[in-house]
Amino acid sequence: MIIVESVEEIKKICKASNDGRVIVPTMGALHEGHIALLNKAREFGNVFATLFINPLQFNNLNDFDAYPQTIEKDIDIFDQNEVDVLFMPSTEDILDQKQIQAIDAGPTGDIWEGSFRPGHFNGVLTIVNRLFELIRPSKAIFGLKDIQQICLIYKELSSVHNVQILPVMTQRNSSGLAYSSRNSLMTEDGKRKASIIFKALKSGKEYWRTNRNLENVKGKVIELLNTEPDFEIQYVENEPLSNLMRPGEKDFSDLFGEPNLNYQLIMIAGYIEGIRLIDNIIINSDKY
Ligand code: PAF
Repeated sequence: MIIVESVEEIKKICKASNDGRVIVPTMGALHEGHIALLNKAREFGNVFATLFINPLQFNNLNDFDAYPQTIEKDIDIFDQNEVDVLFMPSTEDILDQKQIQAIDAGPTGDIWEGSFRPGHFNGVLTIVNRLFELIRPSKAIFGLKDIQQICLIYKELSSVHNVQILPVMTQRNSSGLAYSSRNSLMTEDGKRKASIIFKALKSGKEYWRTNRNLENVKGKVIELLNTEPDFEIQYVENEPLSNLMRPGEKDFSDLFGEPNLNYQLIMIAGYIEGIRLIDNIIINSDKY
C-alpha cells in the first residue's frame, strides 16, 4: 500500500485517465462497515481509500473534537484489506482556500439529518467533490447508513465527475446495532441498549408489511424506542426517498439498480450516553 499525504503527489499519481480507480472515502476509526466498503471496492479495480476527518461537516466543535482517531490501527486495516493507495492529507493542504470549491447541497441538504446538522451536507459535498477532483475515480463506494449522504452525493456529484456511486448495505453487529465510528465512544451497556434502534426500525417495517398503513408506522417505531428509557429520540422520520428530489430531477433508480423506484424510509436519530447515533431502513424493498 502506498501512503500519500500531499495533494500535489496524489494529483501526479491520478493524472492518467480515470480507468479503474475506485475510491472509498473515510474519516478513519475503521470498523466492519468500512471493511464492507473496501471489499466492494476490490471487486472493481485499484482501491484508493482516503482518511480525512473533515472539519467542514461538523456543525458542532465538541463533536469534531470528540471524533475518534485511531490512525495507526486504521493504516493496518487499510493495508490488510489490500488498499492500493491511502490518501491522508493534512487539513491545510486539502482545504486550501485557494483551491477548494464550496459545494452547496441546496434545499434537500436542509431536511432530515440536515435540519439537525446545519451545513453538514455542504461540508460533505465540498470534501467529496475535492476528493473526486483529485483522484478522478470511475467508481465511489458509500454505505447506506448515511442514506441522505449517498443520495446527495449521487445527485450533486456523480454526473459532474462521471463517477458511478455504489451503495453498500449497513453492516450490523449480532444485536442489530449498525457499526459506526461513534460506537467506540459508548460503553458495552450503551451498545446493548442502542440495539433498540434496529428493533424499532424492523418493527416499523413489519407493521407496514402486515398493515400497509404508512400513517401509523412512525407511532409504532416511537412506541418501541420508548421502551428503552436511556435512548433519547432526536427524530423519527417516515418519508419517501423521492422527497430528496426536486421537481424534474431524475430519481434514484440508477443508484439503487431498481427501476421505478419508490422507496419509503424510516430514519431514526437519537442519543445513548450522550453519543449521537443514526440509522434507517427501507420498508418496501427486500433488496436493501
Ligand atoms: O461518511 C463519511 O465518513 C464522511 O461523511 C465522508 C464521506 C468520508 C466525507 O468526509
